[in-house]
Amino acid sequence: MIVMLPSSISQLPTPCLLIEQATLQRNIERLSSHIGALGCTIRPHVKTHKSVDITKEIVNGGHTKGITVSTLKEAQHFFSAGYTDILYAVGLVPNKFEQVKYLISQGCDIKVILDSVEAARLLQDFTQLNQTVFKVMIELDVDHHRAGVDPHGDTLLEIATILSDAQFCELHGVMTHAGGSYECFDHESQLALARQERDFSVAAAKRIREKGMPCPNVSIGSTPTAFAIDDLTGITEVRAGVYVLFDLVMAGLGVCDIDDIAVSVQGSIIGFQHDKHIALTDAGWMAMSRDRGTAGHKIDQGYGVVCDAKGAAYSHLIMQSANQEHGIIGVRDNNPENEQQLSPDILFSIGDLIRVLPNHACSTAAQYGEFYLVDGDRVIANLPSISGW
Ligand SMILES: Cc1ncc(COP(=O)(O)O)c(C=O)c1O
Repeated sequence: MIVMLPSSISQLPTPCLLIEQATLQRNIERLSSHIGALGCTIRPHVKTHKSVDITKEIVNGGHTKGITVSTLKEAQHFFSAGYTDILYAVGLVPNKFEQVKYLISQGCDIKVILDSVEAARLLQDFTQLNQTVFKVMIELDVDHHRAGVDPHGDTLLEIATILSDAQFCELHGVMTHAGGSYECFDHESQLALARQERDFSVAAAKRIREKGMPCPNVSIGSTPTAFAIDDLTGITEVRAGVYVLFDLVMAGLGVCDIDDIAVSVQGSIIGFQHDKHIALTDAGWMAMSRDRGTAGHKIDQGYGVVCDAKGAAYSHLIMQSANQEHGIIGVRDNNPENEQQLSPDILFSIGDLIRVLPNHACSTAAQYGEFYLVDGDRVIANLPSISGW
């Protein structure tokens, strides 16, 4: 069966996920020119969109080398689409060894990460038994955010020694993700963390090399630190993902403006509660995700900022709460000016289309198996994406 692509967003089913082409291109170009000017390359993290078509656009934007994935399913999917240089950036455990071995046997140049002596020993045993070379990066903790070893501690050198002594492991370098940048609410603190991410990673690589072991790659990155960094000496690549779409969390940190958010969920108005001055949409938390990433921000955006059908944001409207297939749209509180504006039950009619900007692009996009690339109200293409593990 051939399904024709609708030419107008008004013909799309709701809820659906829209990506504004011009905004996407602008975001790609912004990081590409920044990292290019610093003489480095981006290893884009495809977990944000999990789309081969969007990855092609990123690569066309220049200054990229390879990709980063967050699941082995993404690795398999992108490898099948022709991407061979892949970093799987989640700590590797034994139940995934076989899957990685399979990818390597097919010609995939996959790199894996780990951050414990135990995992390094288990991998050493597996690679020895299977006579298969794994390229391994040691994950560093540069901001007490999540995973990784202390760049200045003994465990780093202990793991490096196991890997460089192992006949079938190749010590590929060190990597880190300064996820603490999501709590840096101004440029100064983002820059300070970006420099720390760089300096700690470069120092860790130096310690490994001083012991006579190889450490050819030093990989860092998160969207806030990638934009903030001003000198990438000693760094071989920067990983970033959410920057291509941006979202309300990034806008709340000042990394982008609301106008830079390329992704939105298109919903229909399905009903009203006039006594409560709210409107209901068919985009609930299944469509938006449960992510409330702006909850701790100066401006809590609820489940998302409401826009008209063409994407112009209503400054006074947010999705206040969400059920599985219902979004509840109301007027923001705490601002008397908002009360002068039309409440959503007056503003909208049944069947009207709205767009809702998400808190976290990665969580929202992961709810869908396809996106619509649009230019205003014109549909340009249907982009498949993947999900699962
Ligand atoms: C290991 C790793 N690298 C890079 C990134 C990209 O960060 P961002 O989405 O802020 O660009 C992430 C995001 O979670 C990550 O986990």
